[in-house]
Amino acid sequence: MLMSASAYRELQANPYRPWPARITSIMDLTEHEKLFELRIIDNEVREAFKFDSGQFVELSIFGVGEAPISISSAPSKQGFIELCVRNAGDVTGALHRKQCGDVVGLRGPFGRGFPFSEMKGHDVLLVAGGLGIAPLKSLINHIHDDRHDFGKVTILYGARNPDEVLFRYQFDMWKHRDDFDLKLTVDEADDTWTDGVGRVTGLFEELDIDPSVTYGAICGPPVMYRYVIDEMREKKMDVDKIYVSFERRMKCGIGKCGHCGVGHQYACVDGPVFNYWEAMNLQEAI
Ligand SMILES: Cc1cc2nc3c(=O)[nH]c(=O)nc-3n(C[C@H](O)[C@H](O)[C@H](O)COP(=O)(O)OP(=O)(O)OC[C@H]3O[C@@H](n4cnc5c(N)ncnc54)[C@H](O)[C@@H]3O)c2cc1C
Ligand code: FES
Repeated sequence: MLMSASAYRELQANPYRPWPARITSIMDLTEHEKLFELRIIDNEVREAFKFDSGQFVELSIFGVGEAPISISSAPSKQGFIELCVRNAGDVTGALHRKQCGDVVGLRGPFGRGFPFSEMKGHDVLLVAGGLGIAPLKSLINHIHDDRHDFGKVTILYGARNPDEVLFRYQFDMWKHRDDFDLKLTVDEADDTWTDGVGRVTGLFEELDIDPSVTYGAICGPPVMYRYVIDEMREKKMDVDKIYVSFERRMKCGIGKCGHCGVGHQYACVDGPVFNYWEAMNLQEAI
């Protein structure tokens, strides 16, 4: 993390201290998920807050608690960050009841994100299921900003049903661009749905990729990983170029409390993004 000297000193003095951030916009995405735009109030901290796609913050609702949430905006979006949050319990429920102008707390950014610089100059295949699109949206928009540095970009996204498809407005935009190949699918369609029906792995059937130059990025429910990786390996993709983002129960976010242990590593500092080789060596990860 690149920080000014005084912000860095404060963080060193107390890494558990959240920075106050104001909610500047709230968008309903589905019945259970909202997109929050936040602006860190302190000018110096806001300037110093730099992150990579795939990193997360610890979001705090004062008097309720903290929850780890992936940053879903691109690093190039200056001054604001976006969080796509499902109403899952105490903290996220309290956030869902907040309004524009309210103040919440942020710590971070934490963890290891996707290897953006390494991916440059290559094709990229991004596969997301459900809420897994949140960190991948950051990566997709980051690629979009530097589009000329990448080859073919393919996005596969699966949701349970059309009502649960997140970021429809973004998908509509990517769908009409000829430099993004976007394929959507839902487990159960309705009359309005015109895209694919079935699991996200079904989208691999018609996939035309050059495995020798393609990086993979996967984020979704745990059950999805094994099947998507099998499909990628079936396409002869190099396991060194497959990256997965794991969500583990977290508390501190900074490698102190031991809550997120996975194998011999901590998901909060060694992840949440792991190379497939690393992931294979982590007990119970895949
Ligand atoms: C690195 C990381 C990134 C994440 N990114 C996002 C994101 O972008 N958007 C988003 O909505 N959520 C994200 N999550 C999940 C989010 O952190 C949990 O939903 C949240 O902590 C729940 O807190 P709560 O206080 O609202 O719910 P609680 O009241 O604590 O719990 C509600 C229920 O959710 C379960 N739960 C809590 N944490 C997790 C977890 N990590 N995985 C599975 N079940 C859990 C609890 O056991 C309980 O059943 C992320 C988690 C991690 C570790
Ligand atoms: S969340 Fe505390 S060690 Fe990872």
